[in-house]
Amino acid sequence: TTVDNEEMYRPNFHFTPKKGWMNDPNGLFYYNGYYHLYFQHNPDDNKWGPMHWGHATSTDLITWKEQPIALYPDELGTIFSGSAVVDIDNTTGFSQKEKTPVVAMYTNHDMEAEKAGKIVDEVQSIAYSLDEGLTFTKYEGNPVVKNPGIPDFRDPKVDWDEERGQWVMVLAAGQEIKFYASKDLKDWELLSVFGEGIGNHDGVWECPDLFPLPVKGTDEQKWVLLVSINPGGPNTGSATQYFIGDFDGKTFKIDESFQKELEKEHRFWVDFGRDNYAGVTWSNARTADGSKLFIGWMSNWLYANVVPTEQWRSANTIARELSLIKGDDTYRLVSLPVKQLKNYRGKKVADTDISIAGKTVLTTTQTISLSQTEINFEIPNASIGKYTFSLSNSKGDALKFGYDTIENKFFVDRGQSGQTGFSEKFSDRIAKAPRLSNAKNWTGKIILDKTSIELFYDDGQTVMTEIFFPNAPFESLSLESDTDTFTLNKLEIHQLNF
Ligand code: FRU
Repeated sequence: TTVDNEEMYRPNFHFTPKKGWMNDPNGLFYYNGYYHLYFQHNPDDNKWGPMHWGHATSTDLITWKEQPIALYPDELGTIFSGSAVVDIDNTTGFSQKEKTPVVAMYTNHDMEAEKAGKIVDEVQSIAYSLDEGLTFTKYEGNPVVKNPGIPDFRDPKVDWDEERGQWVMVLAAGQEIKFYASKDLKDWELLSVFGEGIGNHDGVWECPDLFPLPVKGTDEQKWVLLVSINPGGPNTGSATQYFIGDFDGKTFKIDESFQKELEKEHRFWVDFGRDNYAGVTWSNARTADGSKLFIGWMSNWLYANVVPTEQWRSANTIARELSLIKGDDTYRLVSLPVKQLKNYRGKKVADTDISIAGKTVLTTTQTISLSQTEINFEIPNASIGKYTFSLSNSKGDALKFGYDTIENKFFVDRGQSGQTGFSEKFSDRIAKAPRLSNAKNWTGKIILDKTSIELFYDDGQTVMTEIFFPNAPFESLSLESDTDTFTLNKLEIHQLNF
């Protein structure tokens, strides 16, 4: 029944709308102590439909408070994905009574035009808020970017380009990214186009993001371009690839060493799991060490509309910090949960030098909850055979994940994880991800909620996010190797309290 479904599957701490459908995060900005999260929302149904921007706020990126719907469909169409910026210098002239405008830029998608078979149905519009993002007024001059004749022309992501003193916008156009600049967010000039023949092109490009990041341990700065693609993900369906290079205010030039590695093998995905899509970063916010803050939609277009929840559909990932490292070959994007998650740690189980002989139970729910949990582990010299963690319950469901050292790949197997029959695509394969670090010891951080697992291996170098729907909460966590006994030299399990 409805009540059971709510009780069983509503996450403990990942954001979900109270009612209705959600997809992409939109309009992420920080201002005056609050992180704002808008989202693609159909408030009247638990399936995708006429899009609105739902809204939620947080002071720490972990606990969210849902706010009234911020943008409703209008005469130009429904409200597709986009971004928001704080117009501190009032470049738009939207300010009144000294209030700082927050400006949202989004795609108007004309469903009538689409139904009538017109291929051109997407334009870019803006709206401004003078109450810090709670309510918006649409600009009377909309659309601000007309459609040049491209069917998929959407998801504007705007940010202030500090060095050049201009607004820069990236937009997905078919299977390319278009770069634009503006002085006032109203008049936009096309600067350049990126993407032909580069990266994965198995699907439409969506939800781009562009930002500079410091390269850890150097004085260097590089620009990161995120591009979501559907389909074409490393484990089928939708996923987010990235490119690293330089941006001179006009053109994004891919880094040479990056391009070389990309051409060898495309291993540049924000997340290799099946459930992190359309993720973008917060404007007007960085961590103390210059990282950008990111959140993704924790589902996949392959089955998002049919997952077994009723009152609502979809959650977001945990908010993450994105940073850059430079390896022997090239640069790499790494992600970790935001540090604020630590503030929720409660009861803890910690151990060192645990001998694992055969399938060994690490903990059960009699000691600690396994659905609001952070686990950190380290396995020394991980080199032989296959290491498998299992989460299981009394109904016979099991979620398996781990590291196959022969393939040098991580895996998540949700084939027996509970309800899977709602879509063939949900568990038609085991998700795999390359190990990108060559560190001897294998370390990982595991974030568990009722219906999701987020795996951050090797300090966030390889990430996998996957959702699941067990018939009862998981009660036990075990670990085994198919080859030999070994020692787990660190295990830390934190119950997170919300
Ligand atoms: C990505 C996406 C966007 C679009 C939105 C519509 O998931 O297809 O390109 O703006 O969803 O809801």
